[in-house]
Amino acid sequence: MALALGCVIAMCLRAVIAGGSLAADGASTIKLPKETAALRPSELFGYKIAREKCGICHSADYINLQPPGMTLAQWTAEMVKMQHAYGAPLDEEEIKQLSIYLTSAYADATTIPPPSAAPPATDAPSSPTTR
Ligand code: HEC
Repeated sequence: MALALGCVIAMCLRAVIAGGSLAADGASTIKLPKETAALRPSELFGYKIAREKCGICHSADYINLQPPGMTLAQWTAEMVKMQHAYGAPLDEEEIKQLSIYLTSAYADATTIPPPSAAPPATDAPSSPTTR
């Protein structure tokens, strides 16, 4: 056993000598990506929903790697796809809040409707939300 190990070490030494220090350095500095990619933080309610729901099936990389500048409509379609095609447990209100958050945090805030779309504060006068 010790002899076998000795041989392995000898081979390593030879490899290092042959390949120079470059190979050895390269091997010792491999860094794996952080295992849990984070969602971009936000004050928006959708951020909270995203943290609860989006990690069920995949990492935040899927979101982080989307092309920048996706519009509200595009993010909404994406959320509907998560719901319908993949079975993400999201209701309509959550899809709305998520899309606003994603659009805001990931690019094109200009497509977001004015602040009234935020979750009802205390006494929002008109909210015909029953469907
Ligand atoms: C029920 C499982 C599930 C949940 C929950 C889920 N996803 Fe996905 N998501 C998927 C699958 C499956 C894919 C496609 C994976 C592939 O193509 O390799 C995907 C892919 C994506 C992509 C990449 C683009 C695409 O359309 O393939 C984005 C962006 C995305 N999800 C965003 C989200 C967000 C935001 C949430 C949180 C609301 C979410 N997902 C929740 C299953 C889910």
